[in-house]
Amino acid sequence: MSKTLTLPPLTEDLAQVLVDAATIDRRVNEIAAEINRDYRDIEEPLLLIGVLKGSFIFLADLCRRLTIPHVVDFIAISSYGSGGATQGNVRLLMDIREDMTGRDVLIVEDILDSGHTLAYLQRNFQTRGAKSVRIASFLDKPERHKVDIKLDYMGFTIPDVWVVGYGLDYKEKYRTLPYIAEMYPVH
Ligand code: IMP
Ligand code: MG
Repeated sequence: MSKTLTLPPLTEDLAQVLVDAATIDRRVNEIAAEINRDYRDIEEPLLLIGVLKGSFIFLADLCRRLTIPHVVDFIAISSYGSGGATQGNVRLLMDIREDMTGRDVLIVEDILDSGHTLAYLQRNFQTRGAKSVRIASFLDKPERHKVDIKLDYMGFTIPDVWVVGYGLDYKEKYRTLPYIAEMYPVH
């Protein structure tokens, strides 16, 4: 799966490509097919909630492959304090606009790391009366989990390294790379 990089100006921080664009494309097709199958009898449109900013590219690719009725909304979360999300210090920065009461909700996230962000969102959405809450995360770093989160849809499992591209950033850089790359451990 590893490929050498072909974008010289961006390479000084990046060790290797972990998931190339063609592999991402195939996997997103598969995930969309699973969602189309699982929600085929849905009555109200599925509420896709993208967690800003990291999920926006995955969400854009995913929702364009859905054949079931769906609507798109966004939420922003901030991690604060030393250690950020890793310590469970998570709060809501920008809420969705849709009403989620009685709705089937699919949280769309870039990566499951410690799990605090997704645990917070799951709890929050359940108390707001969602009919169902499932999670699609493009990446999963199992070695980093601190709380138990069950992913309903998952793209790729990766080792405990910092990755960028396909929506994920390092200090706002590298988000729009078309592949997932591993950074050298400078963070
Ligand atoms: P959590 O620790 O599971 O709450 O994840 C918090 C957030 O950290 C994720 O939603 C990502 O936005 C970000 N994150 C975690 N690992 C990485 C990474 O390797 N690259 C880029 N962002 C990451
Ligand atoms: Mg995120």
